[in-house]
Amino acid sequence: MAASHRRRVGVLISGRGSNMASLIEAAAHPTYPAEIVVVISNRPEAGGLARAAAAGIPTIVVDHTAHADREAFERELHAALVAHRAELVCLAGFMRLLTPWLIGNWEGRMLNIHPSLLPLFKGLHTHRRALEAGVRIHGCTVHYVVPEVDSGPIIAQAAVPVLPNDTEEALAARVLRQEHALYPLALSLVAQGRVRLADGRVRLEGAWDEGSALIAPRPAARER
Ligand code: GAR
Repeated sequence: MAASHRRRVGVLISGRGSNMASLIEAAAHPTYPAEIVVVISNRPEAGGLARAAAAGIPTIVVDHTAHADREAFERELHAALVAHRAELVCLAGFMRLLTPWLIGNWEGRMLNIHPSLLPLFKGLHTHRRALEAGVRIHGCTVHYVVPEVDSGPIIAQAAVPVLPNDTEEALAARVLRQEHALYPLALSLVAQGRVRLADGRVRLEGAWDEGSALIAPRPAARER
């Protein structure tokens, strides 16, 4: 891959598109190793479509309700990605289950962001379930998409504390802030070729900081 080649990325959304917006914003930097070439929504009313258009990104609606079956829907989705010469696909709040056919076509080239520390809390209502489970640390995950939902090889994760008086909304907002940092980072690593799939696991290439531990609960400074 030539150093100057920015990987072409299609983003799939279903809703407000805040993660999509974080990818578009990151890709606006000329040194970012990927560019967003198309945003596709399965819902015509998705708020993210206007945000993408405002950023000058081509948008397409592939309305699943307007297709006879899942296969016809996915064939159009795939054709739109191919027509825009996408090399990678980022699911960003895309709320349709995909069949092994489409996923197979993008094997090792399709990423998803999920609002939990996988493999915990696959599926929906992750923040509510984290609160119910009483975990002290929650977060988000970017992973490769495989046919089994929310189960693909993990690329990157970000963790946040769960605070004693958290509501589902407060926790969701805290996680979402990290999603907006994590997805551009993970896509950048993939686009640079610093992430490799081997035997169903992700191998990271390069040097990495140890970072710091997240301990929760951590008493407020005045109570320490
Ligand atoms: C995000 O929190 C994302 O992690 C989640 O939907 C939200 C979409 O928000 N995705 C899933 O739950 C996928 N199973 P956004 O449209 O503002 O990016």
